[in-house]
Amino acid sequence: MILFKKTGDLRRWIEQQQISGNAIGFVPTMGALHAGHISLIDISKRSCPVTVCSIFVNPTQFNDPGDYQKYPITIEKDIALLEAAGTDALFLPEVSEMYPDGITNLETYDLGHLETILEGKYRPGHFQGVCQVMRRLLRLVRPDDLFMGSKDYQQCMVVQRLIHLMDWSIRLHRCPIVREPDGLAMSSRNTRLTPPERQRATAIYQSLLALRSGASLTIAEKMLTDAQFRTDYIAICDPETLEPTTPSPNSIALIAAFQGEVRLIDNLQL
Ligand code: PAJ
Repeated sequence: MILFKKTGDLRRWIEQQQISGNAIGFVPTMGALHAGHISLIDISKRSCPVTVCSIFVNPTQFNDPGDYQKYPITIEKDIALLEAAGTDALFLPEVSEMYPDGITNLETYDLGHLETILEGKYRPGHFQGVCQVMRRLLRLVRPDDLFMGSKDYQQCMVVQRLIHLMDWSIRLHRCPIVREPDGLAMSSRNTRLTPPERQRATAIYQSLLALRSGASLTIAEKMLTDAQFRTDYIAICDPETLEPTTPSPNSIALIAAFQGEVRLIDNLQL
């Protein structure tokens, strides 16, 4: 695996791959990698001759400064995992490399209603930050295929919209959620849970399963409260628009809730 820290070096290597006719698969991450991230690398490797991963804890997408400061960093372990998975290149830039003119007064994007519902409502500015970093990363890597996790369902919709706004031909693949054996969706933030919080955290998946079995939103929310979750939202939505809808096999249930200091999100197609 080749490690790049500078945009110019990565760009030259990407150009060589393009001249050689190699389609590029890209997996953007913020590090603290787990099996969920590695599943994206595996899917990319099955579809593309070249797989590029990035690790960059993007300051512009954290609406909570404490969350940014406490974001777990495990770079040595990440490199070993990516190498073992057969990643071709890792991009590991500094903040000044991604944002040479600083991180204030950045451009904004018209994200429509995606910005005011669910994650957009509870994390103001978050999706602008995601678009700011994704536009820079995608312009640099210019992948043919982009692999992202459906755990961040609304983020996939936002990035699809960015691709549309930029008139790029990148194919976005929304990949399955990888879970712990007890159902908890894998997340870099799980490492910040204390052992009792970690045990209680399974209530998110349990309440999604309850919704799938026909339980009401009130019952599902009570399951979260009983497990000491503070719920931002629990909603059943249309998978295409994320507008609230009545439960049906095609609808999707989404949850965001705090266990202690840690905010977790998950979703399940009903
Ligand atoms: P991060 O949270 O590191 O996630 C990187 C990618 O891994 C995202 O596409 C996310 O949906 C996916 N992922 C996380 N947990 C997963 C799981 N349990 N199963 C499957 N995929 C999972 O999302 C971000 O970083 C950032 O917002 C980023 C897109 C990199 C922009 O900064």
